[in-house]
Amino acid sequence: MLVLGIESSCDDTAVAIIDGHNILAHIISSQLELHQPYGGVVPELAARSHVEIIDKLIKQALAEANVSLKQIKLIAATGGPGLIGGIITSVMVAKGLALANNIPIIFVNHLEGHALMAKFEYPELNYPFLVFLASGGHCQILECNGPGKYIKYGETLDDAIGEAFDKTAKLLDLTYPGGPQIEQLAQAGNELSYKLPISMLNHENCNFSLSGLKTATRYLIAEFPNLKQKHKADIAASFQYVISKQIINRIELAIKKFQISQNQHKINLVFSGGVAANNYIRKKLESCCHKHNVRLYCPSPKYCTDNAVMIAFAGLENYKIGNLSKLDFRPKARWPLYNITNS
Ligand code: KG4
Ligand code: ZN
Repeated sequence: MLVLGIESSCDDTAVAIIDGHNILAHIISSQLELHQPYGGVVPELAARSHVEIIDKLIKQALAEANVSLKQIKLIAATGGPGLIGGIITSVMVAKGLALANNIPIIFVNHLEGHALMAKFEYPELNYPFLVFLASGGHCQILECNGPGKYIKYGETLDDAIGEAFDKTAKLLDLTYPGGPQIEQLAQAGNELSYKLPISMLNHENCNFSLSGLKTATRYLIAEFPNLKQKHKADIAASFQYVISKQIINRIELAIKKFQISQNQHKINLVFSGGVAANNYIRKKLESCCHKHNVRLYCPSPKYCTDNAVMIAFAGLENYKIGNLSKLDFRPKARWPLYNITNS
């Protein structure tokens, strides 16, 4: 079944066409250069840029897949959460195409796109599974019992993990987005150089907190009148080390809870969202999962960050259970995953 996916909730305009678990077209137009001088995403610039390019990308995707709009059986577009200007673009374009061509439509929760991406690449992954979702705007641990059926185990009380990476990168004079740059810089550093605080250790719930670490890193950086490359690498490595410690501590608790709720030890964990592209954190999670008899599923790094394949696939999964959207759907800047309806 041919599904057209459209994503424009942040700084990437993306269009994809999938046929079941096969990708026929996968296009991402990044706005990185547009936002880089500002050290972060400027919402108004992002919104305008999505509007300017979306039509062209849809035409390009249809040509790449060698299909016509008439052959598309479902349109799946991001309906939220994210920057409202961008979401309005995907929602309005999708509504226009659906109405003009009489195609069913599903407005997908962007977070559900991330959560189900691993299932696209590993069809053997069955519901229910545990999801650790870590991106620039979100940090949550959820139990996924199927499309639209999520139970929250925990979330960040302040910053998202990707956000903490981006803000720390800025302090280290690295360009946006900071996650990949800190990971690379950390490879040359000693992770035990500086003792940064690990928050939420052994807290009874599965929540996260990153703001203490962010402030401590800021004070640490301020101690250096002249920050040399070696210092930067050591700070990046120590920062990443402490984040991984918090993640493992929180995930171990979530694994225990999920194993109890499922009444079995052999469970599946999905790690997704932009931060899941981080190889260091993936490795730490892998050994944690190995220790607890848990199978870890991570999307390929290129599908961890924002893309439209994940939106098309989440649309398809919702379509299979009849979760269609209506044309009067309103774009949503905020849209919690653990309480979603696609209407
Ligand atoms: O999922 P995503 O593409 O967009 C959102 O929905 O937020 O995630 C982007 C976030 C950014 O904060 C970026 O710095 C972070 O994911 N990220 C990483 C890595 N690659 C991307 N964080 C840590 N390590 C990475 N390798
Ligand atoms: Zn995302």
